[in-house]
Amino acid sequence: MAATMMDGRALAERIRGEVAVEVAELGHVGLATILVGDDPASDVYITSKHRVATEAGIDARDVRLPAETSEDDVLALVHELNEDDAVDGILVQLPLPAHMDETRVTYAVAPQKDVDGFHPVNAGNLYLGTPLHVPATPAGCMELLDAYDVDPRGAAAVVVGRSEIVGRPVAMLLLQAHATVTICHSRTADLAAETLRADILVAAVGVPGIVTPEMVKPGATVLDVGLTRTDEGIRGDVDRSVADVARRLTPMPGGTGPMTIAMLLRSAVKAARYRRGLLAYPTQ
Ligand code: GUN
Repeated sequence: MAATMMDGRALAERIRGEVAVEVAELGHVGLATILVGDDPASDVYITSKHRVATEAGIDARDVRLPAETSEDDVLALVHELNEDDAVDGILVQLPLPAHMDETRVTYAVAPQKDVDGFHPVNAGNLYLGTPLHVPATPAGCMELLDAYDVDPRGAAAVVVGRSEIVGRPVAMLLLQAHATVTICHSRTADLAAETLRADILVAAVGVPGIVTPEMVKPGATVLDVGLTRTDEGIRGDVDRSVADVARRLTPMPGGTGPMTIAMLLRSAVKAARYRRGLLAYPTQ
Protein backbone atom coordinates (compact mmCIF):
# COMPACT_ATOMS: atom_id res chain seq x y z
CA MET A 1 0.00 0.00 0.00
CA ALA A 2 1.29 3.47 -0.81
CA ALA A 3 -0.03 6.08 1.56
CA THR A 4 -1.76 9.22 0.37
CA MET A 5 0.58 12.14 1.06
CA MET A 6 -1.15 14.87 3.06
CA ASP A 7 -0.14 18.01 1.22
CA GLY A 8 0.48 20.65 3.88
CA ARG A 9 1.91 23.08 1.34
CA ALA A 10 -1.26 23.22 -0.74
CA LEU A 11 -3.53 23.42 2.31
CA ALA A 12 -1.37 26.16 3.87
CA GLU A 13 -1.55 28.16 0.64
CA ARG A 14 -5.33 27.95 0.67
CA ILE A 15 -5.49 29.09 4.31
CA ARG A 16 -3.09 31.96 3.62
CA GLY A 17 -5.41 33.07 0.83
CA GLU A 18 -8.38 32.99 3.23
CA VAL A 19 -6.38 34.95 5.80
CA ALA A 20 -5.52 37.61 3.20
CA VAL A 21 -9.25 38.12 2.50
CA GLU A 22 -10.01 38.41 6.23
CA VAL A 23 -7.14 40.86 6.78
CA ALA A 24 -8.45 43.03 3.93
CA GLU A 25 -11.94 42.95 5.50
CA LEU A 26 -10.61 43.93 8.92
CA GLY A 27 -8.51 46.72 7.44
CA HIS A 28 -5.53 46.16 9.72
CA VAL A 29 -4.01 43.22 11.55
CA GLY A 30 -0.76 43.78 13.41
CA LEU A 31 1.68 41.04 14.41
CA ALA A 32 4.91 41.66 16.31
CA THR A 33 7.59 39.04 16.74
CA ILE A 34 10.59 39.19 19.05
CA LEU A 35 13.74 37.26 18.27
CA VAL A 36 16.55 37.47 20.81
CA GLY A 37 19.97 36.28 19.69
CA ASP A 38 21.18 34.74 16.46
CA ASP A 39 20.04 31.12 16.53
CA PRO A 40 20.18 30.19 12.80
CA ALA A 41 17.05 28.00 12.84
CA SER A 42 15.05 30.72 14.63
CA ASP A 43 16.28 33.26 12.08
CA VAL A 44 14.94 31.07 9.26
CA TYR A 45 11.58 30.58 11.01
CA ILE A 46 11.11 34.26 11.82
CA THR A 47 12.14 35.38 8.35
CA SER A 48 9.60 33.09 6.71
CA LYS A 49 6.89 33.99 9.24
CA HIS A 50 7.39 37.63 8.21
CA ARG A 51 7.44 36.98 4.51
CA VAL A 52 4.21 34.99 4.67
CA ALA A 53 2.49 37.41 7.07
CA THR A 54 3.37 40.38 4.89
CA GLU A 55 2.13 38.59 1.77
CA ALA A 56 -1.22 38.11 3.54
CA GLY A 57 -1.41 41.87 4.20
CA ILE A 58 -0.56 41.63 7.91
CA ASP A 59 1.40 44.54 9.36
CA ALA A 60 4.31 42.48 10.66
CA ARG A 61 6.87 44.02 13.00
CA ASP A 62 10.16 42.11 13.18
CA VAL A 63 11.93 43.02 16.43
CA ARG A 64 15.43 41.56 16.72
CA LEU A 65 17.52 41.97 19.84
CA PRO A 66 21.12 40.97 20.57
CA ALA A 67 21.69 37.76 22.55
CA GLU A 68 23.03 39.71 25.54
CA THR A 69 19.79 41.73 25.97
CA SER A 70 18.63 41.56 29.59
CA GLU A 71 15.43 39.74 30.54
CA ASP A 72 14.11 43.01 32.01
CA ASP A 73 14.54 44.75 28.65
CA VAL A 74 12.67 41.96 26.86
CA LEU A 75 9.90 42.09 29.47
CA ALA A 76 9.68 45.88 29.06
CA LEU A 77 9.32 45.44 25.29
CA VAL A 78 6.60 42.80 25.73
CA HIS A 79 4.69 45.16 28.06
CA GLU A 80 5.03 47.96 25.52
CA LEU A 81 3.65 45.74 22.75
CA ASN A 82 0.82 44.60 25.06
CA GLU A 83 -0.23 48.26 25.31
CA ASP A 84 0.28 49.06 21.62
CA ASP A 85 -3.11 49.27 19.93
CA ALA A 86 -1.64 48.65 16.48
CA VAL A 87 -0.38 45.23 17.60
CA ASP A 88 -2.96 42.44 17.67
CA GLY A 89 -0.63 39.49 18.11
CA ILE A 90 2.74 38.99 19.81
CA LEU A 91 5.12 36.08 19.36
CA VAL A 92 8.36 35.59 21.28
CA GLN A 93 10.45 33.13 19.32
CA LEU A 94 11.80 30.22 21.37
CA PRO A 95 14.34 29.20 22.46
CA LEU A 96 15.43 32.34 24.28
CA PRO A 97 19.10 32.71 25.30
CA ALA A 98 20.00 30.63 28.36
CA HIS A 99 20.19 33.58 30.77
CA MET A 100 16.45 34.25 30.34
CA ASP A 101 13.51 32.61 32.01
CA GLU A 102 11.35 31.53 29.06
CA THR A 103 8.36 30.98 31.28
CA ARG A 104 8.48 34.48 32.68
CA VAL A 105 8.82 36.06 29.24
CA THR A 106 6.10 34.06 27.48
CA TYR A 107 3.74 34.54 30.44
CA ALA A 108 4.21 38.31 30.17
CA VAL A 109 2.44 38.35 26.79
CA ALA A 110 -1.18 39.47 27.18
CA PRO A 111 -3.35 36.33 26.69
CA GLN A 112 -5.50 38.08 24.07
CA LYS A 113 -2.36 38.79 22.01
CA ASP A 114 -0.67 35.45 22.65
CA VAL A 115 -0.92 34.06 19.11
CA ASP A 116 1.33 31.11 20.12
CA GLY A 117 -1.17 29.95 22.75
CA PHE A 118 1.65 29.41 25.25
CA HIS A 119 0.24 31.59 28.07
CA PRO A 120 -1.34 29.55 30.93
CA VAL A 121 -4.69 31.26 30.32
CA ASN A 122 -4.70 29.93 26.77
CA ALA A 123 -3.28 26.54 27.78
CA GLY A 124 -5.97 26.41 30.49
CA ASN A 125 -8.73 27.26 28.06
CA LEU A 126 -7.57 24.49 25.77
CA TYR A 127 -7.51 22.06 28.70
CA LEU A 128 -11.03 23.08 29.69
CA GLY A 129 -12.33 22.59 26.16
CA THR A 130 -12.86 26.29 25.45
CA PRO A 131 -9.83 27.00 23.28
CA LEU A 132 -8.93 30.50 22.27
CA HIS A 133 -5.37 30.80 20.99
CA VAL A 134 -4.01 27.36 20.27
CA PRO A 135 -0.36 26.55 19.45
CA ALA A 136 0.04 26.70 15.69
CA THR A 137 1.56 23.30 14.96
CA PRO A 138 -1.17 21.31 16.76
CA ALA A 139 -3.84 23.48 15.12
CA GLY A 140 -2.24 22.67 11.75
CA CYS A 141 -2.40 18.95 12.53
CA MET A 142 -6.14 19.21 13.14
CA GLU A 143 -6.63 21.15 9.89
CA LEU A 144 -4.78 18.45 7.97
CA LEU A 145 -6.99 15.74 9.48
CA ASP A 146 -10.07 17.71 8.56
CA ALA A 147 -8.88 18.41 5.02
CA TYR A 148 -8.31 14.70 4.43
CA ASP A 149 -11.65 13.68 5.98
CA VAL A 150 -10.09 11.92 8.96
CA ASP A 151 -12.68 12.06 11.73
CA PRO A 152 -11.05 11.72 15.17
CA ARG A 153 -14.41 10.86 16.78
CA GLY A 154 -14.02 7.48 18.48
CA ALA A 155 -10.61 6.93 16.88
CA ALA A 156 -7.59 5.73 18.83
CA ALA A 157 -5.15 8.64 18.68
CA VAL A 158 -1.60 8.18 19.94
CA VAL A 159 0.71 11.15 20.41
CA VAL A 160 4.43 10.48 20.76
CA GLY A 161 5.92 13.39 22.72
CA ARG A 162 4.62 15.53 25.56
CA SER A 163 6.11 18.95 24.78
CA GLU A 164 4.17 22.07 25.67
CA ILE A 165 4.40 23.28 22.06
CA VAL A 166 3.11 20.15 20.30
CA GLY A 167 2.50 16.92 22.24
CA ARG A 168 0.26 18.15 25.04
CA PRO A 169 -1.82 20.63 23.01
CA VAL A 170 -2.36 18.27 20.08
CA ALA A 171 -3.50 15.59 22.57
CA MET A 172 -6.01 18.10 24.01
CA LEU A 173 -7.31 19.03 20.55
CA LEU A 174 -7.72 15.36 19.63
CA LEU A 175 -9.53 14.75 22.91
CA GLN A 176 -11.81 17.68 22.21
CA ALA A 177 -12.52 16.13 18.81
CA HIS A 178 -13.63 12.98 20.68
CA ALA A 179 -10.65 10.73 20.00
CA THR A 180 -9.45 8.26 22.62
CA VAL A 181 -6.04 9.72 23.31
CA THR A 182 -2.81 8.18 24.56
CA ILE A 183 0.28 10.30 25.18
CA CYS A 184 3.63 8.50 24.95
CA HIS A 185 6.99 9.84 26.10
CA SER A 186 10.51 8.82 26.97
CA ARG A 187 9.36 6.69 29.93
CA THR A 188 6.66 4.81 28.02
CA ALA A 189 7.32 1.12 28.69
CA ASP A 190 6.47 -0.29 25.26
CA LEU A 191 6.20 2.42 22.62
CA ALA A 192 5.45 0.08 19.71
CA ALA A 193 2.60 -1.58 21.62
CA GLU A 194 0.98 1.86 22.03
CA THR A 195 1.60 3.16 18.50
CA LEU A 196 0.33 -0.07 16.93
CA ARG A 197 -3.14 0.69 18.30
CA ALA A 198 -3.26 4.13 16.69
CA ASP A 199 -5.77 5.04 14.01
CA ILE A 200 -4.21 8.51 14.19
CA LEU A 201 -0.53 8.70 15.11
CA VAL A 202 1.23 12.00 15.80
CA ALA A 203 5.01 11.85 16.12
CA ALA A 204 6.54 14.89 17.82
CA VAL A 205 9.73 14.06 19.66
CA GLY A 206 12.51 15.20 17.34
CA VAL A 207 14.19 11.79 17.07
CA PRO A 208 14.74 11.07 13.37
CA GLY A 209 13.02 7.91 12.17
CA ILE A 210 11.80 6.82 15.62
CA VAL A 211 8.51 5.62 14.11
CA THR A 212 9.20 2.60 11.89
CA PRO A 213 6.72 0.60 9.75
CA GLU A 214 6.49 -2.20 12.34
CA MET A 215 5.09 0.34 14.81
CA VAL A 216 2.23 1.47 12.60
CA LYS A 217 -1.22 -0.07 12.28
CA PRO A 218 -2.06 -0.81 8.63
CA GLY A 219 -4.38 1.91 7.36
CA ALA A 220 -3.44 4.49 10.01
CA THR A 221 -3.10 8.23 9.47
CA VAL A 222 0.37 9.40 10.48
CA LEU A 223 1.33 13.01 11.13
CA ASP A 224 5.06 13.71 11.30
CA VAL A 225 5.86 16.80 13.35
CA GLY A 226 9.46 16.06 14.32
CA LEU A 227 12.07 18.00 12.40
CA THR A 228 15.78 17.40 12.74
CA ARG A 229 18.47 18.92 10.55
CA THR A 230 21.03 16.21 9.79
CA ASP A 231 24.01 16.01 7.43
CA GLU A 232 21.70 14.22 4.99
CA GLY A 233 19.13 17.02 5.16
CA ILE A 234 15.90 17.51 7.08
CA ARG A 235 14.55 14.33 8.69
CA GLY A 236 11.24 13.72 10.41
CA ASP A 237 10.36 11.41 13.29
CA VAL A 238 8.68 9.02 10.87
CA ASP A 239 10.70 6.62 8.76
CA ARG A 240 9.69 7.14 5.14
CA SER A 241 8.90 3.45 4.61
CA VAL A 242 5.89 3.95 6.90
CA ALA A 243 4.25 5.01 3.62
CA ASP A 244 4.00 1.29 2.78
CA VAL A 245 1.80 0.64 5.83
CA ALA A 246 -0.10 3.86 6.56
CA ARG A 247 -3.14 5.03 4.62
CA ARG A 248 -2.21 8.69 4.95
CA LEU A 249 1.09 10.30 5.83
CA THR A 250 2.45 13.85 5.95
CA PRO A 251 5.55 14.37 3.79
CA MET A 252 8.68 15.82 5.37
CA PRO A 253 9.18 18.58 4.41
CA GLY A 254 5.88 19.89 3.04
CA GLY A 255 3.51 18.38 5.59
CA THR A 256 2.95 19.81 9.04
CA GLY A 257 5.66 22.52 8.70
CA PRO A 258 3.94 24.85 6.22
CA MET A 259 0.73 24.52 8.21
CA THR A 260 2.36 26.01 11.30
CA ILE A 261 2.90 29.43 9.73
CA ALA A 262 -0.55 29.43 8.10
CA MET A 263 -2.16 28.73 11.48
CA LEU A 264 -0.10 31.47 13.12
CA LEU A 265 -1.56 33.95 10.63
CA ARG A 266 -5.02 32.66 11.40
CA SER A 267 -4.31 33.22 15.10
CA ALA A 268 -3.30 36.81 14.37
CA VAL A 269 -6.62 37.40 12.61
CA LYS A 270 -8.42 35.79 15.54
CA ALA A 271 -6.57 38.10 17.96
CA ALA A 272 -7.65 41.10 15.87
CA ARG A 273 -11.27 39.92 16.00
CA TYR A 274 -11.17 39.45 19.77
CA ARG A 275 -9.60 42.84 20.27
CA ARG A 276 -12.28 44.51 18.16
CA GLY A 277 -15.06 42.75 20.08
CA LEU A 278 -16.06 40.66 17.05
CA LEU A 279 -15.41 37.43 18.95
CA ALA A 280 -16.05 36.66 22.63
CA TYR A 281 -13.10 35.82 24.85
CA PRO A 282 -13.89 32.68 26.93
CA THR A 283 -12.70 34.12 30.24
CA GLN A 284 -14.33 37.54 29.95
N1 GUN B 1 10.13 27.77 18.37
C1 GUN B 1 9.84 26.63 17.71
N2 GUN B 1 8.52 26.58 17.41
C2 GUN B 1 7.98 27.71 17.90
C3 GUN B 1 6.66 28.24 17.90
O1 GUN B 1 5.71 27.64 17.40
N3 GUN B 1 6.51 29.45 18.50
C4 GUN B 1 7.53 30.12 19.07
N4 GUN B 1 7.28 31.30 19.64
N5 GUN B 1 8.78 29.65 19.09
C5 GUN B 1 8.99 28.46 18.50
